[in-house]
Amino acid sequence: MKSSITILAIESSCDETAAAVVKNGREVRSNIISSQIKYHKEYGGVVPEIASRKHIENINQVIEEALESASVSLEEIDVIAVTYGPGLVGALLVGVSAAKAISFATGKPLIGVHHIKGHICANYIEHEKLTPPYLCLVASGGHTHLVVAKDYTHYEIIGLTRDDAAGEAFDKVARAIGLGYPGGPAIERMAKEGNADAIAFPKAKVSDNPYDFSFSGVKSAVLNHINGCKMKGEEIHQADIAASFQKAVVEVLIEHSLMAVKEYQLNQFALAGGVAANTALREGMKTAMEAIGVRFYCPSMVLCTDNAAMIGAAAYYEYQAGVRAGWDLNAVPNLKLV
Ligand code: KG4
Ligand code: ZN
Repeated sequence: MKSSITILAIESSCDETAAAVVKNGREVRSNIISSQIKYHKEYGGVVPEIASRKHIENINQVIEEALESASVSLEEIDVIAVTYGPGLVGALLVGVSAAKAISFATGKPLIGVHHIKGHICANYIEHEKLTPPYLCLVASGGHTHLVVAKDYTHYEIIGLTRDDAAGEAFDKVARAIGLGYPGGPAIERMAKEGNADAIAFPKAKVSDNPYDFSFSGVKSAVLNHINGCKMKGEEIHQADIAASFQKAVVEVLIEHSLMAVKEYQLNQFALAGGVAANTALREGMKTAMEAIGVRFYCPSMVLCTDNAAMIGAAAYYEYQAGVRAGWDLNAVPNLKLV
């Protein structure tokens, strides 16, 4: 087997059209991300039809840019990788079709990557010391998973959200208090101006699995608080709401992760997903983990939110494990992690 593997990775599961060239899972040669935020902003969230159309318009250019900026020709690429789920079906299909076409035309092997595995593997890019097993919290717009990474391709899910994902709660609360889309960064900015102890929002516990999450309660509590203020004619303190909400979510994420890392006796912890770009979460989790002697890892901000470098990292390990996709590779919007 070749000792060095260079992967062209494509990601189009939601509202970023992205392509990257990644060598041996950990060396990013290029990482091009074309964000569609400006097209979705006026609608307050991602509009699936617009996402698909923009992916189609941008994908070829993004792929060309990824190759160019890596100074790599298509001939020098060993493997074509693409996110095939979970995500928006029309959005995923654009990346999957592009990857299949390139793979067919060049005869290079094709690998379908699970988006969440990509988020987890983003941690390998900058952290050479990180090797399985470890505990990972993946918190994104669509998922909140607490998983044990058993090796580079196998995961055990120990906790899941029962309702809203953490990022989804950030987005919904941001909309409720009049901040734009995407909500996470807007809440984080606003929270800096507010008092995190101003309002005691609930931290929901799920009775039958201590590692599961529920964020719809805190979201409803924010809406009730806003309605209560309106009815009483009181001023709505956006910054206090943002800070108190962020604190409630971050505390739950940290508490569950601490409990799990102790119970599963793991001495390494990795954070992943778009919500991992939140400084309060990154810093709070780092402090909490290091206080009990657990090594803490987190990707840099640009590798937390959607990108294709993370897909190239995950694909490398799938490739080494012998995984290959056929021409029947299809978009799977609700693809399960295990
Ligand atoms: O991983 P990601 O880019 O896409 C999905 O796979 O869903 O995550 C996007 C989510 C959005 O809900 C966004 O509001 C949230 O991550 N997010 C943040 C921050 N940056 C992005 N949440 C809290 N604080 C942030 N700084
Ligand atoms: Zn994502």
